Amino acid sequence: MGAPEAVRRRVEQLRREIERHNYLYYVLDQPEIPDAEYDKLMRELQALEQQYPELVTPDSPTQRVGAAPAKEFAEVVHEVPMLSLDNAFSDEELAEFDRRVRERLGVPRVEYSAEPKFDGLAVSLLYEDGVLVRGATRGDGYRGEDVTANVRTIRSIPLRLLRSGWPRRLEVRGEVIMTHARFRALNEALEKEGKKPFVNPRNAAAGSLRQLDPRITAARGLEFYCYGVGLVEGGRLPDRHSKILARLRDWGQRVPPWLERVRGYAGCKAYYERMAERRATLPFDIDGVVFKVDRLDQQEALGFVARAPRWAIARKFPPEEVMTRLLDIEVQVGRTGALTPVAKLEPVFVGGVTVSSATLHNEDEVHRKDIRIGDWVIVRRAGDVIPEVVAPVRSKRPKGARVFHMPKRCPVCGSAVVRLPGETIHYCTGGLYCPAQRRGAILHFVSRRAMDIEGFGEKLVAQLDARGLVKDVADLYGLTEAQLLTLDRMGPTLARKLLANIERSKETTFERFIYALGIREVGEVTARALAEHFQGDLEALMHASRETLEQIPDIGPVVAGHIERFFAEPHNREVIRKLLAAGIHWPRPRARRQTRLAGKTFVLTGALTSMTREEAKARLQALGARVSGSVSRRTDYVVVGESPGSKYDRARELGVPMLDETAFLELLSAAEQD
Ligand code: IVH
Repeated sequence: MGAPEAVRRRVEQLRREIERHNYLYYVLDQPEIPDAEYDKLMRELQALEQQYPELVTPDSPTQRVGAAPAKEFAEVVHEVPMLSLDNAFSDEELAEFDRRVRERLGVPRVEYSAEPKFDGLAVSLLYEDGVLVRGATRGDGYRGEDVTANVRTIRSIPLRLLRSGWPRRLEVRGEVIMTHARFRALNEALEKEGKKPFVNPRNAAAGSLRQLDPRITAARGLEFYCYGVGLVEGGRLPDRHSKILARLRDWGQRVPPWLERVRGYAGCKAYYERMAERRATLPFDIDGVVFKVDRLDQQEALGFVARAPRWAIARKFPPEEVMTRLLDIEVQVGRTGALTPVAKLEPVFVGGVTVSSATLHNEDEVHRKDIRIGDWVIVRRAGDVIPEVVAPVRSKRPKGARVFHMPKRCPVCGSAVVRLPGETIHYCTGGLYCPAQRRGAILHFVSRRAMDIEGFGEKLVAQLDARGLVKDVADLYGLTEAQLLTLDRMGPTLARKLLANIERSKETTFERFIYALGIREVGEVTARALAEHFQGDLEALMHASRETLEQIPDIGPVVAGHIERFFAEPHNREVIRKLLAAGIHWPRPRARRQTRLAGKTFVLTGALTSMTREEAKARLQALGARVSGSVSRRTDYVVVGESPGSKYDRARELGVPMLDETAFLELLSAAEQD
């Protein structure tokens, strides 16, 4: 009894599909599906082969580690094969791994070396007598590509090992990666040149390392972290993995940050959780953590299976990219009238949560990415970032997939939709006639960082709007208990609480008030800059010309234009008048003293011994001075504390006057006497 015909066919189909994805991934550096999807295909094939061992063939993708080397590079045969790692996708699988290791070794508890799993590409570096003689990619694990000239351009790879005592021939293994910052800059540059951007940092790293012209590699700013050794000849290394890494570090290799030695499953699990939390803050991608039995004698006793060691496992993070169906594209109208296309998705689990919609930013973006309604798409959710649709999977495009167009009329109020020349955003022209804009403006006004009026959620605001009780934000302050009691699910206790919250909001700050107005492109930072500049003087802000506004730090011509137009609009002036009449107020800072530091710009660098940076900043601001984060020609003084940073160099370059702490204290106290 062999395997059923249907199984044979499925196995063949899976192999062909996996081979195609291998080619896209390893040879072209342009994968079409997310890793999680690839893993699924591989696991299905593995499961079938396990169930029907007679179907296993030596050329099955399960028997190989990666792809054959590309033809452009000379071939390198790895004397010690570069194997892969088994994966654990859950705590249970990790516990299972630890159990197997303990049982095989016959010990109650095992020590592991715990490391991040870098999402880049594996590279082998061969050192002879301490000199880098060859760099190679992993290829299929047995034969890779000779990329010596390229790895020599990577600054974190030492061309010579430091100190002495290295084995005569030593193969260092590790991962070449690209940071997020480099990746973004590279893709921007590629797009400007009209070239195809890379899908993710890993493919960018692979594509950059596998360049025939090493000058291109050099310009890409790749980085290397070593995580082990391969060939060791003519010398000895320590008897623990963690000690080998420490030794490699002494020899000038860059070893992973956050290396730890942990004990047993509990130690592994705790490490995984720590790293999962840290993941979103790292400057590069990691897709999991790796646990390796630390003692080499134990590693040896455990040995290998087909393509991976029994002594190591990769505990993978939940995928940040998955594939799902794009069911529809809806258009949402924001408080400024901006129309945003939103993808409605077949719900998927990604980045640790279930996602059913994702932003598509604007119409151009949808067309640039060639995303069509009905497509299979790749959805990404990394850290706490809002989910986005990365790209369609073109090879899976169904026949009826439809191209998306922005509607000509606002889907909420039916007003005409316009797109200003040179802008990517479409706007509803309905203004406050459009309920979406009215409600959005109210929700923004009451939000925590604006007027902070608790209790006003979307449902309540929609009701107040629908009944005509709140036509603009100023109407909030005229609401009565009797009016509130006419609303659904409203009792006297809640009504009184809401009114108390409204009352409390009357005492606010100038910057909150400016932010709450919802002027286009005036976020919290700009609101703060305006508040600082106009020192509580709303009249002055309302009458400021575009030119005056542009003098304020961080305000450019576009935002200045938005602010000027906002205050020129009679309706807005009327709302502001009503808000002030209702009793909204904020402290007016004491009239600014005319000190010798008024209007001067300071930059602080290094630590002061007599006060914290915050105190120094507050004292300067009280004297009318400005404190900026970076040195420019407009800086009046740079205050240099202990161990100053690059601002000191910059100040020297530009010839900006510098004050040491003593001189600074003298100047402060003199100005405070003014
Ligand atoms: S050890 C025999 N350690 O993951 C052990 N690999 O899935 C081989 N990787 O090809 C690898 N970070 O490209 C190891 N700290 C780490 C790693 C790591 C990333 C990659 C490496 C390897 C792949 C295996």
